[in-house]
Amino acid sequence: ENRYDLSGSLLHWYDYNKRLLPWRENKDPYRIWISEIMLQQTRVEAVKPYFDRFMEALPTVYDLAEVEDDRLMKLWEGLGYYNRARNLKAAAQTIVQEYGGQLPADYDKLLSLKGIGMYTAGAIGSIAFELQVPAVDGNVLRVLARLWGDDSDILKDKTKKDMGRRIMEFMPEDRPGDFNQALIELGATVCVPNGKPLCDQCPWDTVCRAYKEDLIDKLPVKTPK
Ligand code: ADE
Repeated sequence: ENRYDLSGSLLHWYDYNKRLLPWRENKDPYRIWISEIMLQQTRVEAVKPYFDRFMEALPTVYDLAEVEDDRLMKLWEGLGYYNRARNLKAAAQTIVQEYGGQLPADYDKLLSLKGIGMYTAGAIGSIAFELQVPAVDGNVLRVLARLWGDDSDILKDKTKKDMGRRIMEFMPEDRPGDFNQALIELGATVCVPNGKPLCDQCPWDTVCRAYKEDLIDKLPVKTPK
């Protein structure tokens, strides 16, 4: 399996199959941040119109830091999990006060901002700043559990950390952001849950253990807490 160019085949697939999404138009860290927060608990198709409207209303971190709470809540109305919006504003104020209005290009500094956890720090760090850091969300856990035929419980923090460590071996030095987004994209569009993944379209069909051993329906393992 190590002789196979895992990242090369994944990036090649991504280059030809990635969806054109509003937050992929450029690498403005502010846009990447807002999109990743919206995408945490909301589906891509639902996020799109909210993202466009939000960017038009609040195009910079300064606008967000100063927005009236009522206006912010109106922009978020319908997305749910309103703490996400409150945390965004608090983090924007920190970014203005402590970082001169620029999101920090540093994993630990990103992680210390309100509302930014390991996944989001990894996503922003890699996509906006090309930092070599993993961004392991539910999509990515499903892809990796199947690729490696790994029956660890993906709801455990330890599994997330272990998978993050293991995937670093395959992270290409020149395209960490695309690599992480390609993993997310593969999980969202091909290696989908509910027993109907499109394995015939997968760039990893020849190396996937779950596919070879007919374990696709059994992985990933999620043990309710
Ligand atoms: N879900 C989380 N992050 C995403 C991204 N950057 N593109 C598409 N779906 C996502």
